[in-house]
Amino acid sequence: MELRSVVRLLVLSASVFAPGVLSAFGYTSSGNNYVIDAGSANPLVFSVSKSSCDINSIKYRGTELQYSNTGTHIGSGLGSATVSVSQISGSSRYIKVTCVTSTLTHYIVVREGESIIYMATYITAEPSVGELRFIARLLPDKLPNEYPYGEVSNTSGASATVEGSDVFIVNGQTRSKFYSSTRFIDEDSHCVYGGSDLIHVCIMTPQQESSSGGPFFRDIDSNNAGDSTNLYNYMNSGHVQTEAFRMGLHGPYAMQFSRSGIPSVKNLDVSWFGEVSVTGYVPASGRGTVQGTASGVQSGMQGVVHWYNSNAQYWAKTSSSGAFTSPLMKPGTYTMVLYQTEFKIATTTVTVSAGQTTRQDIAGNFNTSRNTLFQIGEYDGQPTGFRNADKFLRMHPSDSRMDSWGPLTYTVGSSTLSDFPMAVFKSVNNPVTIKFNLASAPGAATLRIATTLSFAGSRPQATVNGWSGPVPAAPTKIDSRGVTRGAYRGYGEIYTVNIPAGTLVAGTNTITISSVSGSDGDAFLSPNFIFDAVELYTA
Ligand SMILES: *[C@@H]1O[C@H](CO)[C@@H](O)[C@H](O)[C@H]1NC(C)=O
Ligand SMILES: *[C@@H]1O[C@H](CO)[C@@H](O)[C@H](O)[C@H]1NC(C)=O
Repeated sequence: MELRSVVRLLVLSASVFAPGVLSAFGYTSSGNNYVIDAGSANPLVFSVSKSSCDINSIKYRGTELQYSNTGTHIGSGLGSATVSVSQISGSSRYIKVTCVTSTLTHYIVVREGESIIYMATYITAEPSVGELRFIARLLPDKLPNEYPYGEVSNTSGASATVEGSDVFIVNGQTRSKFYSSTRFIDEDSHCVYGGSDLIHVCIMTPQQESSSGGPFFRDIDSNNAGDSTNLYNYMNSGHVQTEAFRMGLHGPYAMQFSRSGIPSVKNLDVSWFGEVSVTGYVPASGRGTVQGTASGVQSGMQGVVHWYNSNAQYWAKTSSSGAFTSPLMKPGTYTMVLYQTEFKIATTTVTVSAGQTTRQDIAGNFNTSRNTLFQIGEYDGQPTGFRNADKFLRMHPSDSRMDSWGPLTYTVGSSTLSDFPMAVFKSVNNPVTIKFNLASAPGAATLRIATTLSFAGSRPQATVNGWSGPVPAAPTKIDSRGVTRGAYRGYGEIYTVNIPAGTLVAGTNTITISSVSGSDGDAFLSPNFIFDAVELYTA
């Protein structure tokens, strides 16, 4: 009691002094809000609504950063929640706000002396909006800039939409929040920033074990929307969703406030999180590790090992010798996959036990012996090198900065990789044509078309010198826009076309590859698929 009143007095004092002079760790109750002071040298004081869990004020170094019309919250706000606050003493002092609804508990935690809001979100059901995200809605005049991508997702001043209500044209360029996305495996911190003292507000996600989609999944990170600058932690969404949503505890994750510096997740300490009683939290002592060696990764490509089951997902990069160590994993049996860059080359299983290191090697088995007649692109699970592959992550395919989509003709031996389109759209550049010379008729051969993502049932149909290959069965549908949102990672279907003997001839040959689907659509929303690699080979 006595400590509490001292704290309250200091909080009151802090608000009347200049920023940076005095800040006192503690919380107070003020009307419908809990006001939390992190007690940091660069003062961070924020208010959480007692009825909705919305953060409705964030003052950092005395400056209000919170957008006033809409709060900072989960989804579009919980609406109503049972909100409680407590101070906890452990290896540090903490303040924890707990917001409870029937299927979701959101935790907001500060550790004394840090300008960091730690969070974790526990769910027993997917939110009815079909996605689980944290969104900070901040003031664009204070924090107009975005890191690491900036302009690509600045939709302030949009003059028109290109697609839906989320891809816009600004100053003749296409912009969307989707173009701020980064692969999970590459995420460090993503931020909004601004002002003369370069205040940064950054989201960091030390692990995404309860998210879905694996190491290469990408989702919205930030967006200057004009009215507010939005900073996100997308924990799951229907944005090119390739596996079921995971329940349980998402996080911990953090929103760090800094002056001029960009914090790194490598320096974020969440080892104390077990001290604040969070439902679903599994401490390090309750976890295990997998170690091993991966082989068969094509030289020059990054090996990535991925573990997943219905409860959790993890990944690790392999060293140049193929060695890998997993993060600390929850106990259980996992599917274990090896990729070269993003191309799957092996699958096995492994069982993880608490407090133990399990040894499990994995060997790539994709590279069977064959006689390659030509190959366009690499089996890396990405459209890298093909036309517009250098641009599509950060702009719409209709953007005037894109190179012409064609239809294109690629001549083996004289064309460059950028003469081959990264995607074939049924209504835009259908088909792509490949011309090549053979010294002699090879007899029967195989055309392998590796793809990364299909939209609206699209799959490739080949013709070879006038012979029509079969129309493959429709791929598993992903109910989401794809390439127009800068996405490319789907199931990665691989199609093999068995070309009968007598079809390929000595001299000039022509193959066309068309986007085929029972569906239709306009322009870049017509059925399309994205290429990974195309190879013609004999046994
Ligand atoms: C965002 O776009 C608007 C409109 O083009 C522009 O005025 C503003 O300067 C941009 N903001 C940043 C941070 O670049
Ligand atoms: C794949 O096969 C080719 C020839 O068949 C060989 O040159 C290459 O080294 C192989 N790569 C791997 C990673 O085994």
